[in-house]
Amino acid sequence: MTITIDPLNHDVGAEVTGVDHESLVSDDTVAATVLDALETHGVLVFRNLHLEPETQVAFCRKLGQIDTEPGHHPVRGIYRVSLDTTKNSSAGYLRATFDWHIDGCTPQDDAYPQMATMLTAKAVSATGGETEFASTYKAFDNLTDAERTRLATLRVVHSLEASQRLVTEEPTPEQLAAWRGRPVKEHPLVWTHKSGRRSLVLGASTDYVVGMDPAESRALLDDLLRRCTAPDRVYRHDWSVGDTVIWDNRGVIHRAAPYPPDSPREMLRTTVLGDEPIR
Ligand code: OGA
Ligand code: MN
Repeated sequence: MTITIDPLNHDVGAEVTGVDHESLVSDDTVAATVLDALETHGVLVFRNLHLEPETQVAFCRKLGQIDTEPGHHPVRGIYRVSLDTTKNSSAGYLRATFDWHIDGCTPQDDAYPQMATMLTAKAVSATGGETEFASTYKAFDNLTDAERTRLATLRVVHSLEASQRLVTEEPTPEQLAAWRGRPVKEHPLVWTHKSGRRSLVLGASTDYVVGMDPAESRALLDDLLRRCTAPDRVYRHDWSVGDTVIWDNRGVIHRAAPYPPDSPREMLRTTVLGDEPIR
């Protein structure tokens, strides 16, 4: 089979065709091509692939080390993304996926943000539930020279509390205590990758710019996020059961369009662990 990669729009995303389950797990050139395309396009879409969970995990292992923490699913390496608390005991936190974010900016330990995340649609929502992506590499590239110079000096505090407050405006004391029990991390606003590319570290976990007036800090972070996620820069994936999407979590922010808490929507997720710190 010939693997084909067709860009979806000018900023982020490409559709991959010409792969089958067998070549994903047995053909090393497929994994190498996917890694390369991920770096170039940020998001790769495989429509109608209907991957088995075991095949998804085996393929992701070819891309890097994967997260094998228990994920409410019988197959190790699969985590269930669902608002249904019988399928995911931390479903309450997942409403924060409705805001733009990078995964893994406030890890428990000193883990690096994950390198890539793969989702396969097992069940979709009748309304909402699309996933949107925007390139933070492009967000950096589109800055003026003066902005690049200024932003390169700034550091930002990230917290779970900042992201949870966006979806739960009036937390209970218990919720607040749980959020505050999680680590708060400081990162540079501009991430210089080992590839030499630079991206902006944006999204729901950004609490404030260190040493800046709070209102000015909020306005700056909001403005950068708004420019990064302008509608013509976004790829929105409208899921069908059996679609698989993988994104480069180092240079892409993502969010889910809101869907009802009783929706059957269920994504099977595999996480490829990070290979570089934000610096
Ligand atoms: C995630 C995530 C978005 C979605 O799995 O990290 O943000 O559309 N998912 O479910
Ligand atoms: Mn996420």
